[in-house]
Formats: sequence, C-alpha cells, structure tokens
Amino acid sequence: MIKNTITSTKAKLTQVRTFSVDFSQEKVLRSRVRLNNGAEMPQIGLGTYSVKKPEQIQWALKYGYRHFDSGFFYGNEAMIGQELKKAEKELWIPRAAVFMATKIPPKDQGYEKTKAIIEKSLKSLSDLETIDLVLLTFPSTPGLDPKDPKNIENRHDSWKAMEEFVISGKVRSIGLANFKPRHIEKLLKISWIKPVLNQIETHPLYQEHDTIALCQQNDIAIEAYSPLAQYKKELIENTTITKIAQSHGLDVSRTILAYLTQKGFIVIPRSTKEEHIASNIQIGDVRLSEDDMKEIDALSQGNQMKVCWDSKDVI
Ligand SMILES: NC(=O)c1ccc[n+]([C@@H]2O[C@H](COP(=O)([O-])OP(=O)(O)OC[C@H]3O[C@@H](n4cnc5c(N)ncnc54)[C@H](OP(=O)(O)O)[C@@H]3O)[C@@H](O)[C@H]2O)c1
Repeated sequence: MIKNTITSTKAKLTQVRTFSVDFSQEKVLRSRVRLNNGAEMPQIGLGTYSVKKPEQIQWALKYGYRHFDSGFFYGNEAMIGQELKKAEKELWIPRAAVFMATKIPPKDQGYEKTKAIIEKSLKSLSDLETIDLVLLTFPSTPGLDPKDPKNIENRHDSWKAMEEFVISGKVRSIGLANFKPRHIEKLLKISWIKPVLNQIETHPLYQEHDTIALCQQNDIAIEAYSPLAQYKKELIENTTITKIAQSHGLDVSRTILAYLTQKGFIVIPRSTKEEHIASNIQIGDVRLSEDDMKEIDALSQGNQMKVCWDSKDVI
C-alpha cells in the first residue's frame, strides 16, 4: 500500500517535471498589480477571445501565465474551467494561484439578467467556486439608442447585481470595460463597491488619456485590451517601435508589452500560437529607457488609431 502511494507520488512528480519549464533560463514577467480592494492580479494575462483549444491553455500555464481573460460570449469558459481543474489535479497548480476573469455580455445588462449570467458563468467555468474578476463589458445595452437614459439604468442595475456577488463571496472583484470618464463618474455616485479596474483599448497608437487620468485619480487600475492593436501593420511596422525594438534586440510585440507594463497597465495579449504565447510573457527583464518611453508616448498624441468598438456616443 505504502509502496503504491510512493510509486504514484513519484509518477506525479515526474509528470510535473516533464511539464514544467526551467524558469531560471526564462525572463517571465511575474509582476502583480495590487487592486483597490487588496486583491492582487498578475500584470500579464492571456486574452482568450478565439482561444478554443485546451492545449492553448496548457501552453499558457506551461510558460508561466496565471491569469486568463475570458467572457461568457467567448464560448470558452467551460474549456478553460476544465483545464484549470485539470492543472490543479495533474500539475499541482492550485486554483488560488490562477486569476480567472470573465465578462457579462452587453445584452445581459439589467439586475435579473446579470444575476442569471454570472450564475451561468460560475457553472460554465466548470463550477469553479469563485471567479476572481467579473467585468461589465460595455456601458450601453444593444438595441437601445446610445443616448437613451435606460442605458444608465441598465448598467447601474447590473452593477448592483455584481456587488451582491462580491458580498456573497462568489466573485472576488468587479470592474468595468469600455467606460469613459462620464460613465465612471455616474457609476461612482451609486456604487457601494468601487470598480477595481477599467479594461480599455490601449496600445501605443491609442490611449484614452482622459479616461486613464480619471481612473488613476480614483485608484482604478487600467487593463490594456488589444495591446497589440490586433497585430495591425500600422502598429507592428511603426518606425519608432521597430527602431526601439531593434535597439533592445527584441521583437515588436515584446517591445509594446514592455512599454505598456512599464506604464503600470495590466496587459492581456491574445494568441492562439504556442511560440507567441511563449514569447509574449518573456519580458521580465526588459527595461525601456526614459527616452524610449517618451518616444512611444508621443505616438498617441494627436491622431490615434482605434481598432475595437467605441462607447464615445453612449450617454
Ligand atoms: N472588453 C472588451 O471590449 C475587449 C475587446 C477586445 C479585446 N478584449 C480582450 O483583450 C484580448 C486581446 O485583444 P485582441 O484580441 O483584440 O488583440 P491583441 O491581443 O492586440 O492581438 C491579437 C493578435 O495578435 C497576434 N499576436 C499575438 N502575439 C503575437 C506575436 N508575438 N507575434 C505575432 N503575432 C502575435 C495574434 O495572432 P496569433 O493567434 O497568430 O498569435 C492575434 O492575431 C482579447 O483576447 C480579449 O480577452 C476585450
């Protein structure tokens, strides 16, 4: 009996060793950001829109990711939840070591709908007992005119439902996405629980300076979505970025991610390919100079390039 236990423990250890990477050779970004409620989250996470295969989550875990950004409407919560459960049992990566974030679809705004969809997310994430972060994805409700005041009522009712999940302990933190200063200011007036972060499109060619400033004044972290501008050539072939990348012997993606994390933003680059998942997190020892940072900062002054949806018309 004892012999059997020793044999199975040895087998497990071998499995862990086979799977893990020798991090002494790797420069993985391990910084964590402390949120305004005291929770901490890894500064880099895997954006999982279009990530559908279990091996993509396995690669991310293998290369050191401990943060996943999903959404009920990405259709991959169940797969991710299963992979996290598997990682806990087979790879001894405790659930508590992984930060799982998801989002409420805009169509599910309103108190009852939001309650129902969070329950569904909890189930769909393979019955994970808690979700680390739930985001209110957009300030308006599909089908309503952006100027309709019902948008405000719906998103505030959603927020009340989200607060109840924090109070019940099923959700640890709640936050926003695509919220502009006026949306945040209104929400802060009615909320009991402050949003921990605002997830907004942020990359060297697009930065919402007014939103970022307001969030920073209110201790709301900035999470940069589409940090690589969906790999559009206007960013990837930008001469300032490519020059700085070459001077550090880096690829363009890592240069951009280093810039964003050095500014204190949380980043969630998406990739479906093992080599990209592996390299994007290898920025632990990259340090851009003050001049590099200033040069890249200058790219988001004046004309900007937005690649994703915009809430600028929403009341
Ligand atoms: N809240 C919101 O409204 C919102 C909106 C958009 C996105 N998001 C979140 O933000 C995440 C990321 O944003 P995103 O998906 O729009 O785009 P992104 O991360 O800016 O870019 C993803 C694209 O970059 C490519 N890529 C990644 N790393 C690469 C590398 N090292 N070399 C070459 N190509 C690379 C990927 O292709 P490969 O697959 O070939 O690597 C993919 O085509 C999403 O997955 C989602 O979680 C949230």
